[in-house]
Amino acid sequence: MALVEVINLKKYFPLKGLFFTKGYVKAVDNISFHINKGETFGLVGESGCGKTTVGRLILRLIDPTDGRILFNGKDIMKLTKGELNSFRRDAQIMFQDPYSSLNPRQTVFQIVMEPVRFHGIHVDDPEKFVVNLLERVGLNESHLYRYPHEFSGGQRQRIAIARILSLNPNFVVLDEPTSALDVSVQANILNTLKDIQVQNDLTYLFISHDLAIVKYMSHRIGVMYLGKLVEVGDSDELFEEPLHPYTKALFSAIPIPDPDTEKNKERLVVRGEPPSPINPPSGCRFHPRCPYSKDICKEEDPEFRKIEEREVACWLY
Ligand SMILES: Nc1ncnc2c1ncn2[C@@H]1O[C@H](COP(=O)(O)OP(=O)(O)OP(=O)(O)O)[C@@H](O)[C@H]1O
Ligand code: SF4
Ligand SMILES: [Mg+2]
Repeated sequence: MALVEVINLKKYFPLKGLFFTKGYVKAVDNISFHINKGETFGLVGESGCGKTTVGRLILRLIDPTDGRILFNGKDIMKLTKGELNSFRRDAQIMFQDPYSSLNPRQTVFQIVMEPVRFHGIHVDDPEKFVVNLLERVGLNESHLYRYPHEFSGGQRQRIAIARILSLNPNFVVLDEPTSALDVSVQANILNTLKDIQVQNDLTYLFISHDLAIVKYMSHRIGVMYLGKLVEVGDSDELFEEPLHPYTKALFSAIPIPDPDTEKNKERLVVRGEPPSPINPPSGCRFHPRCPYSKDICKEEDPEFRKIEEREVACWLY
C-alpha cells in the first residue's frame, strides 16, 4: 500500500536574466514512483541530479511545475487548510547539517517542544514528554537544558530526530542525514533511525549519494540521473543485477569485499562529469557518458518500462 505516489513530477527553476527568463534548470523532469507504507525508499545519484528537490516537492516546501504528488491518496496541492495542517505534522524532514539545523539560542527542551507548541498540541507534562523522546534517541534528562554548541555532530542529529518525533509523523525525508558526520558515528545514527522506523511504523525517503549507506537503509531504491529516474527496484535485486548502464557504473564504483562476487561483477567506469541540467543532452541524458550508446539513444528519450519487478529507462531493454 503506497503512502506517497509521485506522478509525472516536474520542477523547472527559472534562470532569471536582467529582463527576461533565460532558460530553466530542469531539476526534476517527469518522474514517477511510489513509496510503500513502512518502507525506506532510497534515492541515489550524483550531486545536482535533483534528489533534494524531489524531497522538498513531496513535503510541499516548493511547488511543482507539473505533475502530482499523492499522500495517503490525496493530492497535496489540493488539501484544505485543516488537511494541510495535519500534513505538516505527518510529513517531516531531517537535514544534513547538524550545525545549522538547530537554533543555537534554544535549549534542547525548547528545540524539541517548538513544533509541538507551533501546532498547538497539548502535552500534560512537557518535561517528561521531552525526556521520553530524548531517551528514545539515545540522549537523557541531563541534556534537557543544554544548548546545541555543547553537543557533538552526532548528538545534534539525535536532537533533530527527537524534535521530528515530537510530532509523531508518518513520513520523514532523510536528506543525507549522516554525511556531515564521522564514519564512526554514522552507523549509530543510522541504526537509531532504523529502530525508530520499526517502533513508530515510519515511512522514509532516504536521500544520499553514498550507495553503501543507501543499500544498508533501503528496501527499494530509485537511481536518479540529471533530473530523471533511470531505474527503480528492490534494494538487494538492484545490487545483485543492476540493469541500467548508469546504475551499473554507480555500483561498480563501490568496493565489494567478497572477491568471488567481484569476479562476477561487470566493472564499468563512467567518464567525465554529469552535464548541466540547464541544457541536458538530447535523447537519453546519459548518452554522452554511456559505453553502450547507440543512434536512437541520442534522439529519443527511453520510456520508463517495467521488467518483472524492476523499472528501467534504457533502450537496451
Ligand atoms: N532554488 C533553486 N533555484 C535554482 N536552481 C536550483 C534551486 N534548487 C536546486 N536547483 C538546481 O537544481 C538541480 C538539482 O538540485 P538538488 O539540490 O535537488 O540536487 P541534489 O541531487 O540534492 O544534489 P546534492 O547531492 O549536491 O545535494 C541543481 O542543478 C541545482 O543547482
Ligand atoms: S538508453 Fe542508450 S545511452 Fe541511455 S543508458 Fe541506455 S544504452 Fe546508454
Ligand atoms: Mg541534495
